[in-house]
Amino acid sequence: SWFKRTPPRLQSKDLEGVAAYIASGRCKNIVIMAGAGISRAAGIPDFRSQGGLYDVLRKWNIDVRRPEDIFTLSRFKEDPKPFYKLMSQLYGGSYRPTLTHSFFRLLDKRRVLNACWTQNVDNLECLAGLPARRLIEAHGTLDSQHCTSCGAKCDDRKMKHAVVTGDIPVCEKKGCGGFVKPDVVMFGESLPLKFWLNLPFLKRADLLIIVGTSLAVPPFSFIANWVPTSCPRVVINMEPVWGVGGRANDVEVLGDCDETVRRLAQLIGADWEAQLDALWKET
Ligand code: APR
Ligand code: ZN
Repeated sequence: SWFKRTPPRLQSKDLEGVAAYIASGRCKNIVIMAGAGISRAAGIPDFRSQGGLYDVLRKWNIDVRRPEDIFTLSRFKEDPKPFYKLMSQLYGGSYRPTLTHSFFRLLDKRRVLNACWTQNVDNLECLAGLPARRLIEAHGTLDSQHCTSCGAKCDDRKMKHAVVTGDIPVCEKKGCGGFVKPDVVMFGESLPLKFWLNLPFLKRADLLIIVGTSLAVPPFSFIANWVPTSCPRVVINMEPVWGVGGRANDVEVLGDCDETVRRLAQLIGADWEAQLDALWKET
């Protein structure tokens, strides 16, 4: 009867409980919130951990009061040099998706992934095989670039050259000469339309996995509160995450994300782990 409370979805507030819930088949709309921590095993530093990007910037003692300033649009338009110098450190090489990226692909293959909301711009979710319809790149992408003055789309080749050498690509449109910026969202810019259009679908979530992120940056961090209260929220992270942990069905699994997703796959079922390895091997 309608008095009956919906049975708690998790038998226990740990990885075993999450695995049993996924294995039960009752979990069909998993939402992921991902951050830079999932790409560290690929060789890409995160931002706020020891030795992360913001530490690199402090070492360069470039005249920014806060390391985030380098990702601020007004600062970029004044002087894009530090941004491109950092990009050439970050994106010079080619990177392979991690086991965690392949775990997202596995959820999609098992038809239980509602969407992966990522803050990362390294394109590794696509390279792991996640289809565009399941991926919301909330902080944009390095895969395209536009002029910050006239908005003209700019040439990929020039951008790739700039990212490797640290040179600043300039708009080729006659008489423009504006600085070219990759389509990553900078502080001071709005998030892509796809982010806002997909917010209502968060109400369908029946499991939220928050992985490899400090959730330090709104409005992305707000998503954690948009899923229904009945939706268990699982943090898979090296450290506790700000703002998650207060709900009755919040779960926290501290540690390395690749080790944790492997354990989760093993706990869900042997074929899950075998399929995870096979998917990762394809990358
Ligand atoms: N396994 C699990 N967690 C990890 C791992 C790992 N191997 N490595 C790092 N982490 C965790 C860190 O403990 C940290 O909590 O990942 C988190 C990374 O946090 P940030 O460096 O703040 O990165 P992120 O949350 O993605 O930053 C958000 O900040 O500057 C902006 O736009 C930028 O999108 C970025 C946003
Ligand atoms: Zn221009």
